[in-house]
Amino acid sequence: MATTSADLKEEVKKKKKDGLGWIEWLRGWFYVVYEMLFQRITASHLLNPMPLPPVNDLTCIVTGSTSGIGREIARQLAESGAHVVMAVRNTKAAKELIQKWQNEWSGMGLPLNVEVMELDLLSLDSVVRFSEAWNARLGPLHVLINNAGIFSIGEPQKFSQDGYEEHLQVNHLAPALLSVLLLPSLIRGSPSRIVNVNSVMHYVGFVDTDDMNVVSGKRKYTSLVGYSSSKLAQIMFSSVLHKRLPAEAGICVTCVSPGVVQTNVARDLPRIIQAGYRLIPYFIFSPQEGSRSALFAATDPQVPEYCQLLKSDDFPVCAFISQDCNPTNPSEEAHNVETSHKVWEKTFEMIGLPSDAVEKLIEGEEVACRYGAHNE
Ligand SMILES: NC(=O)c1ccc[n+]([C@@H]2O[C@H](COP(=O)([O-])OP(=O)(O)OC[C@H]3O[C@@H](n4cnc5c(N)ncnc54)[C@H](OP(=O)(O)O)[C@@H]3O)[C@@H](O)[C@H]2O)c1
Repeated sequence: MATTSADLKEEVKKKKKDGLGWIEWLRGWFYVVYEMLFQRITASHLLNPMPLPPVNDLTCIVTGSTSGIGREIARQLAESGAHVVMAVRNTKAAKELIQKWQNEWSGMGLPLNVEVMELDLLSLDSVVRFSEAWNARLGPLHVLINNAGIFSIGEPQKFSQDGYEEHLQVNHLAPALLSVLLLPSLIRGSPSRIVNVNSVMHYVGFVDTDDMNVVSGKRKYTSLVGYSSSKLAQIMFSSVLHKRLPAEAGICVTCVSPGVVQTNVARDLPRIIQAGYRLIPYFIFSPQEGSRSALFAATDPQVPEYCQLLKSDDFPVCAFISQDCNPTNPSEEAHNVETSHKVWEKTFEMIGLPSDAVEKLIEGEEVACRYGAHNE
């Protein structure tokens, strides 16, 4: 078929895109400000805490459950009867929390079924070790909640021991590796779910697939660039994963926005701004309010059906659930199928897995990862 000049122009335009256009950027900030100002109104129909459907038969892994939103997710799932695995880097803090929860819960029912496993997302070796230890149990996994994340506001650019920009590694690469390596357990737990705690900030994110570490100098690094790009990369990766998983595997992939939440995520802000942050509780959600969209995506019976619908409709993105627990559209850039596939390929290179790892794991074959115990 002959290439028309319009096709060529479109091609050049696509190649030249090295950031969000002004309109996209303004629209992105509009979403961020709108969420901050109106989240309490748009989510006013939700109860707090949100009642959960029966979860007694569920085994759920929650990353980053020592603080903020993750701590609330883990506590509420455990109090509703689920078996909860706190996947954390500070195991001592997690054990103390469990003790506290058990004490508070005593006399209200059976003891909570919560355990702790070590996971440091700044180390891909640690992710592989965690997944191997979990898969070795040969038990089912029903829900993986990739909650742990960082937003090192105002901090200089830092790199993990694996050589990746820290936001990219903690918020996208490590959860991606974890999700793929845990597929055998998620298949055993099918119907099962992967829930990624994402952010409204992805609306102002842009992923340069030739420079995911933001080191080329084409874009000036700021923590905002690091954070928003990592969250967008997570949606793009999740969208391709959602498409690649066959319906028969019964694994539903979602991203959620928790809203703007008062947690330790602001720990790197200057003290004076942190104080101001605490003075506006009307606008900002409590961690309990911020946990609702993830809990909804993890337990609501209609979510798998919705994911299935998106798959059959050939919709280019995975399910995105907003802070008011309604399905919504992620950013325009998140719909960029070509970039999403590049993000998918780059991610596999960076996490040291073969590009057909998902297909192999679905078939029950083993895959070798560049990271892991053999690197100790
Ligand atoms: N708060 C908000 O307004 C907001 C808005 C949108 C999205 N989110 C997202 O919500 C999620 C939870 O954040 P949060 O607000 O609850 O923040 P938070 O209170 O700082 O909690 C983050 C959790 O992630 C863990 N974590 C950080 N680095 C880790 C690593 N290398 N390995 C393992 N765990 C690690 C932390 O563990 P330690 O306690 O050991 O540091 C902590 O448990 C994040 O993905 C964040 O991007 C938050």
